Amino acid sequence: MTSDSPIWPAQLDHLRLDSDDPAMLADYYATVFGYHQSDLPDGRFLLQGPGRRLVVGGGTPGDRPYHGYRLQSRQQLEEVRAYLQGKGVNTEPSPSEIFEDDAVAVRDPDGWLSVFGLPRGDLPSQKAVNVPSAVTLSGRLQHVVVASNNLEQMMRYYEDILGYVPSDYVNADTDDPESKKVAFYRSDPEHHSFAVFAASDVRSDHHAYEVDDWNAVRDWADHMSALHIKIWWGPGRHGPGNNLFFMIKDPHENQVEISAELEVMPREMAPRIWPMEERSLNLWGDGWIRD
Ligand SMILES: [Fe+2]
Repeated sequence: MTSDSPIWPAQLDHLRLDSDDPAMLADYYATVFGYHQSDLPDGRFLLQGPGRRLVVGGGTPGDRPYHGYRLQSRQQLEEVRAYLQGKGVNTEPSPSEIFEDDAVAVRDPDGWLSVFGLPRGDLPSQKAVNVPSAVTLSGRLQHVVVASNNLEQMMRYYEDILGYVPSDYVNADTDDPESKKVAFYRSDPEHHSFAVFAASDVRSDHHAYEVDDWNAVRDWADHMSALHIKIWWGPGRHGPGNNLFFMIKDPHENQVEISAELEVMPREMAPRIWPMEERSLNLWGDGWIRD
């Protein structure tokens, strides 16, 4: 059954990363992922690049206090608010520095906060950059992923409450629908804007930038190389989503992915099932099996 949730279309717009040294982490993302930095109140930083933005703030290293999903109009936002309230979900005030104050925030069973809203009209402008630099490399913030020891409840929340559309599952036994280990969800036609991996605890897994093409993957890898940053997984191609990828780790061990060629799926397309094996996670080579 196709979901009728008004949270379609929605795109991952920004997220917040915390650090015990936010100035260091903001500098790192500005240099490595091509962001312009501006100051926000209370020692936080706004990072903006082409198709990507982040907030970096003070807190426990590795924490990701919220994920901001951009809606298309105020009418859609009011439909989302009414829909969530109709589902009996507690809504919270939005903590997002990037969205207008009327954004609506909801917390999933593992404690991750999703904020649905519209970007403010008074964010600082970025400087135009006319020379080759990381800030000119394509890379749209596109998906965010978590690990959970509570996959079933998380699936019920994202499917039945938010109405995200399942694109693919990875199962321990492809004949046993109860053996799901990974669930990929879309909130617009791109294969996933959010995913959950079964693991031994609740933790952040990674966030990803979608780049223009394979050549841009090369350009990012060359840029990382110039900074002496090693790829820790890939390059490869994921089974679910069919995207080309590599990943690096930031100073707090957050995994960050560069991706290209992510599959596009119409809303009504039913989810598929992949076997839980290395090849599903990386058609080209080693898999990263979460523990
Ligand atoms: Fe990913």
